[in-house]
Amino acid sequence: EKEKTLAMIKPDGIAGNYTDIIKKTILDSGFSITQEMLFELNEETVRSFYAEHATKSFFPDLVQYMSSGPVLIMVLEKVNAIADWRALIGPTDANNAKITQPNSIRAMCGLDLQRNCVHGSDSPQSADREIMFFFNKASSGFVSRND
Ligand code: CMP
Repeated sequence: EKEKTLAMIKPDGIAGNYTDIIKKTILDSGFSITQEMLFELNEETVRSFYAEHATKSFFPDLVQYMSSGPVLIMVLEKVNAIADWRALIGPTDANNAKITQPNSIRAMCGLDLQRNCVHGSDSPQSADREIMFFFNKASSGFVSRND
């Protein structure tokens, strides 16, 4: 059964010019990109997207980082898309990814635990919520649409 997940190239991935290689990796891995949008997230939008992390000590830094530059948001589709995209991006900490999963996307382009270049929904519930968050409602973080 086909499934959708939300993928994001974070500010460090865009700034590091990794967009094309990441998109090629996505397509070579059998996903289709069904929607795509470039956003510049403001702090309020980041706080809302990452609401589950609001009480964490790293939250203020996360909000600043995620609003520091444009992000590319994509909806990916294939059989088992949610788990397969998480596997392809590798562990959260890019330093750890370089050791344990050197062919993962985070090993290739991530910098550290925070600046890990990509995001992926972690469950079907998260995927639904995150796709809805960016594509089924107007957002104050909206910049432009490329699909
Ligand atoms: P992601 O899993 O996409 O969503 C939550 C983000 O918070 C995570 O990627 C990292 O960018 C960041 N993050 C998670 N844990 C930490 C941490 N312990 N310290 C700093 N940043 C973190």
